[in-house]
Amino acid sequence: MIHELKVLSEGDIPALTEGMQASLEDVPEGFGLAYDPGQAQQHMLADGFGRRHTYLRISLVEQCNLRCRYCMPDEDLAWTPDEQLLTDDEIIRLARLFVEAGVTKIRLTGGEPLLRQGVEQIAEAIGVLPGLETLALTTNGLLLPKKFERLQQAGVNLLNLSLDTLRADRFEQITQRRGFELVMRAIDEAMDRGFDPVKVNCVVMRGVNEDELVDFVAWTEHQPIEVRFIEFMPFDGNRWDDTRLVSFQEMRDRIEAVYPLERRTDGPNETSKTYQVPGFRGRVGFITSMTEHFCEGCNRLRLTADGNLKVCLFGRVEVSLRDAIRAGATDETLREVIGAAVGRKHARHAGMYALAEMENRPMITIGG
Ligand SMILES: C[S@@+](CC[C@H](N)C(=O)[O-])C[C@H]1O[C@@H](n2cnc3c(N)ncnc32)[C@H](O)[C@@H]1O
Ligand code: SF4
Repeated sequence: MIHELKVLSEGDIPALTEGMQASLEDVPEGFGLAYDPGQAQQHMLADGFGRRHTYLRISLVEQCNLRCRYCMPDEDLAWTPDEQLLTDDEIIRLARLFVEAGVTKIRLTGGEPLLRQGVEQIAEAIGVLPGLETLALTTNGLLLPKKFERLQQAGVNLLNLSLDTLRADRFEQITQRRGFELVMRAIDEAMDRGFDPVKVNCVVMRGVNEDELVDFVAWTEHQPIEVRFIEFMPFDGNRWDDTRLVSFQEMRDRIEAVYPLERRTDGPNETSKTYQVPGFRGRVGFITSMTEHFCEGCNRLRLTADGNLKVCLFGRVEVSLRDAIRAGATDETLREVIGAAVGRKHARHAGMYALAEMENRPMITIGG
């Protein structure tokens, strides 16, 4: 069971974040930020380490039309009943509160976000929030062509498509469904529509697709594609073990045996380490959550489809904003609840072996 703390009434706020205490003992050696709980009190989106959270990822739906083995648990998941998921209005209200407080980037994710009825209307309502600079979408692409026009009109201006192999037969083995051609078509359409770069998320797993690293890099020669190689991460039910993890270092070594990689500058809160083969149009990024965490620059918050605020991808503790809303919380109360949860964010997540042992949600219900 996820450790879920619910709001029953406005008076319950102090109890709400019980168990989420960040503290001095929490600061690992060599961590570059100092802990001062006073910093958290200054702003709803600040934590005790002075990190300002300007990026919110919203999961719109838990279900998916693919069954990627590294994401979806083998056993049948008990999906949250629809009435316990955030409604469109609740999502839009929370998005507004976050943007008013200073969030400049929102990503819509899932499960598969395009399975959500009304995703277009949600994107339209969020896309017009004053102050929002980036409206991003992470999708497996299967339903994208049908919805592309409206989503782009709504303001979606950053796109991550997930694709772990360039071979149709392997796609079926990894995702347990057909759809390779559809994803490739969606990527082509994204480039035609001017997305530059089109980001392609690729989870690299030993014995599954690590032999395609060089092929993916070759793909960036003439296309505005940024392939982002992601280290395989442990989540509930995904049978993670370190023999299947291909580390950042190993990925680089394998690629550099064929292509030179030049480092490119990353944005201040970028989770990806970006490289480019000299002369190539596209780029290559590495998301190294397992072997080189990037917690010091973390500016992300996550809202699950059932309305829980998750301040760390790998953190077990969640706060139900849905329950707060349904108990009649005012905007001011919601801001306090969010501020208290963010304020107590821990310095960093545990190491990969501890994470593998820890309870968390399956990735499919977090959304990346
Ligand atoms: C959970 S999916 C949700 C959005 C959408 N369905 C998609 O696949 O793009 C978001 C991202 O998380 C990544 N992901 C899922 N499970 C993962 C794992 N165990 N380790 C690393 N990345 C993972 C996926 O590859 C995908 O790029
Ligand atoms: S990675 Fe995305 S497409 Fe694959 S099962 Fe998870 S949610 Fe679905």
